[in-house]
Amino acid sequence: MPVTKQFNLKDCEVAAYTAPNFDRLAGAYRWMEWLSFGPLLQRCRCAFLGELRTVRRALVLGDGDGRFTEALLRVNFEVRVDAVDASSAMLRALVERAGADGGRVRAIVADIRSWRPENGDVYDLVVSHFFLDCLTAEEVEALAGSVRLSLVRRGLTEGAQWVVSDFAVPEGWAGRLAGRLLVGFLYRAFGVLTGLRIRRLPDHAAALKSAGFVMERRREMLFGLLFSEVWRG
Ligand SMILES: C[S@@+](CC[C@H](N)C(=O)[O-])C[C@H]1O[C@@H](n2cnc3c(N)ncnc32)[C@H](O)[C@@H]1O
Repeated sequence: MPVTKQFNLKDCEVAAYTAPNFDRLAGAYRWMEWLSFGPLLQRCRCAFLGELRTVRRALVLGDGDGRFTEALLRVNFEVRVDAVDASSAMLRALVERAGADGGRVRAIVADIRSWRPENGDVYDLVVSHFFLDCLTAEEVEALAGSVRLSLVRRGLTEGAQWVVSDFAVPEGWAGRLAGRLLVGFLYRAFGVLTGLRIRRLPDHAAALKSAGFVMERRREMLFGLLFSEVWRG
């Protein structure tokens, strides 16, 4: 399935200058993850997977090579997925990984900071795993606001949920120390490998709350260094 390009030249130039470039990591990304965290990140991504069997239209933000999308398509035979990512190589890997289910995926190459759902796109699930940490707090706030606005406009607020997984700095001195070391190391590594300029975790909870989302559930792993949450919009 061809990767859908959904940006105009102006957006493309913005994306080229400012979005980190994960293209060259696409082939190795899965193995890098396995060597550093084993199965833990995938467990985190799939923490609430069993509850997503009735979802019909999912917007997956920055899913990279598509480990979550693949898992979602396997447990839910009806869901259609719009996957938005700035990396065309990552999206190609995502569509390949989806295999026979690739027909239910629309891959959209875009910088999320300038992308907005098309009129008529109606989602009952938004997903962002290990992605909001690529944005500033202000960018997460703007994203949450525009996602929420499109849900409200379409009258879907009751049913829409946003599943978020990411790294965190836990409470307590030992957790804070471990969290800061780990997050600092990851940001430096991705800064070198992709040009990512962000250096601190955004306060995604404040951003989602201020956009009108309410957290329903949260699971933590690795002593609170990883979390997965379900928010309702
Ligand atoms: C750290 S990876 C996480 C990938 C995947 N969600 C996971 O769970 O492993 C971040 C992904 O977000 C994408 N990304 C980063 N900044 C972006 C932006 N501004 N717009 C769209 N995608 C972006 C990258 O191309 C990459 O695929």
